[in-house]
Amino acid sequence: MSDLETRIVLMLKSSSRYMTRDEVSAGLDAATPDLDGAIADLRSRGYRIDEVPGQGFRLVDAPAVLDGCELRVALDTSVMGREIFPFGRVTSTNDIAFSLARGGSPEGTLVIAEEQTRGKGRLGREWHSPPGLGLWFSIILRPDIAAYQSSTVSLAVALAVAGVIRDSYGVDARIKWPNDVLVGPKKICGILTEAEFCEDSVEFVVVGAGINVLQGEIDFPDELRDIATSIAIESQSEVDRVDVISRVLRAVEEKYGHLCRNGFEDIRQELLPLSSLMGKLTRVQTGKGTAEGVAVDIDETGALILRGENGLNEKVVAGDATLI
Ligand code: BTN
Repeated sequence: MSDLETRIVLMLKSSSRYMTRDEVSAGLDAATPDLDGAIADLRSRGYRIDEVPGQGFRLVDAPAVLDGCELRVALDTSVMGREIFPFGRVTSTNDIAFSLARGGSPEGTLVIAEEQTRGKGRLGREWHSPPGLGLWFSIILRPDIAAYQSSTVSLAVALAVAGVIRDSYGVDARIKWPNDVLVGPKKICGILTEAEFCEDSVEFVVVGAGINVLQGEIDFPDELRDIATSIAIESQSEVDRVDVISRVLRAVEEKYGHLCRNGFEDIRQELLPLSSLMGKLTRVQTGKGTAEGVAVDIDETGALILRGENGLNEKVVAGDATLI
């Protein structure tokens, strides 16, 4: 899709009424835009554009496809998503982003796919990533932090995603340490962070997020129906994936930027009231075994602090948490 066509789509999308030919032409960065040619091309791509003589154009329907150009024009970030690698079908956006990061791709590079055939979840699980329904993407970040602080990055991203779901879609999203975003007991976004280290510092972090956006209950396989949800289900409203990713990238830019400039403390303070575990009896399956206790804090490195029955605090750096 050309830049001209992308701009036409975005203009028509943001207008609830017909736009005259003059209004559309005035919004384009071209002296004599071939409006008819562009509209014909868009229609051939599945955009249903209605034209009424004297009134102009209206976008009736758009194909449910994430278009790299549309994303580029919609983004108002300065770092996140300035380089975009959009794909139709890939194995895992994290794997692609990891290779790109190793090859030197800059901070903010976004890899996004319509569908993943081997979407990866945490702890070796599979991430269900069907076409057209969610946002499956990975961002390359290059924070100047020590290795032991790396989980603060994914917590900042989880906070950004939860904030967008709460503030823009009116859904009571919470963060389940280390970085799931839940609505009640159901997951609406999962985050998988993979990092490369150079001695004791972080070389780069690939933050992969899967956000369930358009799924209805029927779209989840049986085994996920009781534990997964989507923005559309929870907000009971029409949701646009380009709108969601634009807002999320803006929020990531803000929260991650704040983390890099000022450290973790403010993010931590914002995070604690949104944590679904705080004050609750929690079990964490770690690589070494099981830790149990009441979740009382997230410390300055992003670790979870559990208070055991004996009154002593235990610090848990990573694991899979469940409420007891
Ligand atoms: C989890 O909750 O277990 C984490 C899920 C992370 C899924 C996202 S989708 C985009 C990116 N690519 C992947 O293969 N996984 C992450």
